[in-house]
Amino acid sequence: LASAPPVQLAEMYFRLHPEEVDPVWGNPCDDVRHKKIWSKNKNCESLPKFLVIGPQKTGTTALYTFLSMHGSIASNIASPETFEEVQFFNGNNYYRGLDWYMDFFPSETLPNTSSPMPTQLGSPRFMFEKSATYFDGEAVPKRTHALLPHAKIVTILISPAKRAYSWYQHQRSHGDVIANNYSFYQVITASDSAPRALKDLRNRCLNPGKYAQHLEHWLAYYPAQQLHIIDGEQLRLNPIDVMNELQRFLKIQPLLDYSNHLRYDVKKGFYCQAVSEKRNKCLGKSKGRQYPTMDERSAKLLQRYYLNHNTALVKLLKKLGSRPIPQWLKDDLSTGT
Ligand code: A3P
Repeated sequence: LASAPPVQLAEMYFRLHPEEVDPVWGNPCDDVRHKKIWSKNKNCESLPKFLVIGPQKTGTTALYTFLSMHGSIASNIASPETFEEVQFFNGNNYYRGLDWYMDFFPSETLPNTSSPMPTQLGSPRFMFEKSATYFDGEAVPKRTHALLPHAKIVTILISPAKRAYSWYQHQRSHGDVIANNYSFYQVITASDSAPRALKDLRNRCLNPGKYAQHLEHWLAYYPAQQLHIIDGEQLRLNPIDVMNELQRFLKIQPLLDYSNHLRYDVKKGFYCQAVSEKRNKCLGKSKGRQYPTMDERSAKLLQRYYLNHNTALVKLLKKLGSRPIPQWLKDDLSTGT
């Protein structure tokens, strides 16, 4: 029996099956044969049980911080490249493979020092990961589902126009040259014949806000029962109820009563972690920024721009069950004509 050397054989194989060139990492624990040959010090328990998928600028850092206060919940260890976000399922990190991802979730997690709850050492922690760019990543739902089919998916939605504006302000603060050289109105009205960098900025500003489209994409892979949608305005104004509801959805025990641990900070204008009777620990300056309100012309344009997407979102939310329609969505639609 003759065979070509491995590399040649692989080349032949991929010529025959070009659709398999792009890898999709499956879950080693879903197949006994894979599990058998897997390293002894790896186990699927350390893979995330839920993902906070974004989109960016909807309050994902606040949610991440509040979740990290829970003694039974642990997130990945920090990534030196992307700060707290792993960003595995989108972009090129995916090609680094499963071991690279799993190294962010060591089975022996350290005690959670930011948690007001005593951590029971040795008890399994509820792992999660928050990467805010997952929400609108084309390949992400397929990839997450292949590895984490039972994971719960948590998303936060605010008015897409507000999100776009917050994102634009974020880019300006980060020194993005285009965002600093063009007004918000110029960015969102950039035509297809505009310079490439401006078009890219426009797309990254506007596309994540087409919520219904992205949610449908996730729902093509995950059943609705595994998806939890948080109203970002509620997260901002009433995080205690939002966190209670989220814990129920995730079936996390014991329940942490956030009313003892979150407090409205008048100076910050947001809820913060109550670290002592007088002291609050708020998110940094880059979260809850001060900037001028959106100009009227851009606001009107975005209302028209997102009208069909928002209408589709109402339909989808109704189809998904008894979720109350967020007030911002009603407002966006009522003045959108
Ligand atoms: P702005 O800075 O535009 O106000 P993300 O963490 O996904 O990047 O989202 C940032 C946004 O979270 C902020 O946008 C802010 O409005 C919102 N947010 C919600 N709750 C917050 C909180 N408790 N502290 C700070 N920002 C919060």
